[in-house]
Amino acid sequence: MRKRLVIANWKMNGSLALVDEMVAGFSAASHVDVIVAPPSVYVFHLTEVAAGSFGVGLQDVSQFESGAHTGDLSAAMMAELGATAVLVGHSERRSEHGETDATVAAKGLRVLAAGMMPVICVGESLAERESGQAEAKVRAQIEAQADCLRFGGEIAIAYEPVWAIGTGKSASALEAVAMHREIRRVLQEVTAEYAQGIRILYGGSVNGENAAELFSHDEIEGVLVGGASLDTEQFAAIIRAADV
Ligand code: 13P
Repeated sequence: MRKRLVIANWKMNGSLALVDEMVAGFSAASHVDVIVAPPSVYVFHLTEVAAGSFGVGLQDVSQFESGAHTGDLSAAMMAELGATAVLVGHSERRSEHGETDATVAAKGLRVLAAGMMPVICVGESLAERESGQAEAKVRAQIEAQADCLRFGGEIAIAYEPVWAIGTGKSASALEAVAMHREIRRVLQEVTAEYAQGIRILYGGSVNGENAAELFSHDEIEGVLVGGASLDTEQFAAIIRAADV
């Protein structure tokens, strides 16, 4: 089995002190790639102090290359700092900032063109799951990223059911596995050439307690962790659980 990928998404949380605490408490695991995505203002400091012990990521990127886009940050700037991955299409960006599949696709292509890995986030709402639309929703979100998926760069898909994010109610391992299998089928249809190289992660209330159960399934090739990634010990426990 290939290396698992554990990504911390701090969202709009943390501090310079937490960056230092995270680096001081970090211990590498041989079968796990770790990426930490703090708020962008902390990225420069993180790249300096992390000294290559884990990867540095960002939570969003501009869909534009450069120019008059006040407040935005370009993919090239991120790559210049040494970042290796960028989340695109997180459900909080989609719901709070009106990001569409087309915006997400444009952002993903910027990340790839800058030589970094887009982590494309997909997932259904509670209403969509309860009405039996979960698979159709996720399929449509992935098909909309066909240009990125056929680009040929390193990509990860993060399956994050919206109802499991920040709720303490993770999807069960079997629910996650079923959707990961469906995602693998869709990737195969969209790009037989590159599908097998794409890692599929789960996100939504992952913590130090439920990580081992998730990682007992080969289909869970990594996790995208919100709240629990702010707790150095919990995050370390998740990395240990992934190291199998
Ligand atoms: P929580 O782990 O806090 O549920 O957040 C998940 C998430 O949105 C990670 O991107």
